[in-house]
Amino acid sequence: MCGIVGYVGNKSVVDILIDGLEQLEYRGYDSSGIAVMCDTEIKVYKAIGKLKNLREELCGHEKEFSSTTMGIGHIRWATHGAPTLLNAHPHTCNCGNLVVVHNGIIENYKELREDLAKSGCVFKSQTDTEAVAHLVARKYAQCKDLKEAVRLASYEIEGAYALCVMHNECKNTLVITKRNAPLLIGIGDNEFYAASDVPAIIKHTNKAVYLEDNQIAELTPESMEIVDIENNKINPKIEILPWEPVALSKMGYKHFMLKEIHEQPDVIRNILVGRLHAPDEHVVLNEVKLNHETLTHLERIQIIACGTSLHAAMIGKYLIESFCGISVDVEASSEYIYRKTVTNERTLVIGVSQSGETADTLTAIKQAKAKGAHILIVTNRPDSAMAREADSLIPVNAGIEVSVAATKSYIAQLMAFYLLALYMSEIKDSIAPSTLTSLKTELMLLPQKIEQILSQKDNIQNVARNYANTKDFIFIARGINYPTALEGALKLKEISYINATGYPAGELKHGPIAMLDETMPVLSILMNGSVYEKLLSNSEEAKARNARMIALTNSRDEKLNYLFEHIIKVPDVQELFSPIIAIVPLQLLAYYIAEFLGKDVDQPRNLAKSVTVE
Ligand code: AGP
Repeated sequence: MCGIVGYVGNKSVVDILIDGLEQLEYRGYDSSGIAVMCDTEIKVYKAIGKLKNLREELCGHEKEFSSTTMGIGHIRWATHGAPTLLNAHPHTCNCGNLVVVHNGIIENYKELREDLAKSGCVFKSQTDTEAVAHLVARKYAQCKDLKEAVRLASYEIEGAYALCVMHNECKNTLVITKRNAPLLIGIGDNEFYAASDVPAIIKHTNKAVYLEDNQIAELTPESMEIVDIENNKINPKIEILPWEPVALSKMGYKHFMLKEIHEQPDVIRNILVGRLHAPDEHVVLNEVKLNHETLTHLERIQIIACGTSLHAAMIGKYLIESFCGISVDVEASSEYIYRKTVTNERTLVIGVSQSGETADTLTAIKQAKAKGAHILIVTNRPDSAMAREADSLIPVNAGIEVSVAATKSYIAQLMAFYLLALYMSEIKDSIAPSTLTSLKTELMLLPQKIEQILSQKDNIQNVARNYANTKDFIFIARGINYPTALEGALKLKEISYINATGYPAGELKHGPIAMLDETMPVLSILMNGSVYEKLLSNSEEAKARNARMIALTNSRDEKLNYLFEHIIKVPDVQELFSPIIAIVPLQLLAYYIAEFLGKDVDQPRNLAKSVTVE
């Protein structure tokens, strides 16, 4: 769960590496480093903490690397060993001739370390990566060919990795490889880039090759040669990248998170384009290969995901069961992969992932695929590893999400589930045509309703001010908004570090109510519909224990004024669509509380955007 970049060409390399790392900061940010090929030798620079510390570290060294045109860089999210200078990448072999940066986890690193130590290697760090530096250096000493050395080492490395390697004796040659971790090559004029993700290179080129597992690429300014692990030459497939560089700017907002929250009306419009033209037309999901026959034979649906995507999945279950009458299980990917699931050819497995790279979900998907399930992937990255495993795909088109806290991708995932549930109900003929038309009409009105909420964001900022100093926060809801309560709590805890929990309100009196007193804020997601009265009475129970009550509601019921200290009003909406409306104020509430507290909103501590390790 780190970011790596590499460059070989004719331009000065340091800015390319640092700019690239900046675009990958979402993957980790507890230390960083670069290695550049200087006139006489490779030089390594590292810093602990944010990338700005590395920038500062480089100041004053400009003369050393002014003419360097090849280098590698790394931004780390610590897995093996604390975020210290010694553990920061790049790592070197004993003589310092070979340097490597790595994203992933080397599972057999202990065995490799033991073995290498016996043959004289001295380890300076606690990382798994350093074993790779020593191992490749040992292979290089035997064959004197860097690509070959990396290829031979690949047979001995277990686990997930994307690697960029340089050697002092190969002045113009960068060697890269990957297994179960993302890595792409950007192609310029007499230059090549390597990176964990598109944003690191898109400013320079939109021509790229996605390296496949166990392929090794040798890059020089003039050439790109790719082989597989058995040394067979590969003809690379060059792709044109779809992302626009402008997507990476904050566009005047203080944080990417705030910008991304504001993009949500357009995200909804985008996902509807080409999929739902008018309320009386069918939903079109071109890349979904489910038909009447597959749906008739389906025994079950399993949805697997992590974090925010898991909350979207829980709402997906609610929608598919309501619209289509098919039984759906939802499970955290990290649980799914370690038990015997009942998954077979009659199972539809839906993987939900913003990044499409989350290791647990990717593993779960591969397991389900091996058992013969039909795999449907809902992702913001149609170019991701998960998308490549898919039989059916719903790209959610939210655009690049930079903030570690997911916002617009969540709304987009919810939209994907609305469209999917409607699409399946049309195939199954499970909803009356007039109801379908009314649901679709409401779906198409959602962007305006979110715009209305955004235009009143000052009210939410005022509410936030009152709770910035709280230690704990409880969100309660029922029915389709129970996952909204979980997601509201997740947003708050990940960016403000306040201990926040979401409960199905009916569970309050089975334990959590014991925590309530005049210091505890309880936010009730009180949306009109089937569970409104029930939730109101749960809120009264909480109020009776002196909790500080906040309502998020589309009800205009006067008596709420007596029950709640603060009321966040949202536009009216059919109950089935209320999760889309309810989550936006909760994202803003979390944002403003974190901002009042002066937290690093876009890059909260200990987190990374893309969790590519199990
Ligand atoms: C969201 O705010 C989180 N940072 C995190 O829970 C995230 O949703 C989770 O890691 C799953 O990521 P994915 O959607 O890319 O698979």
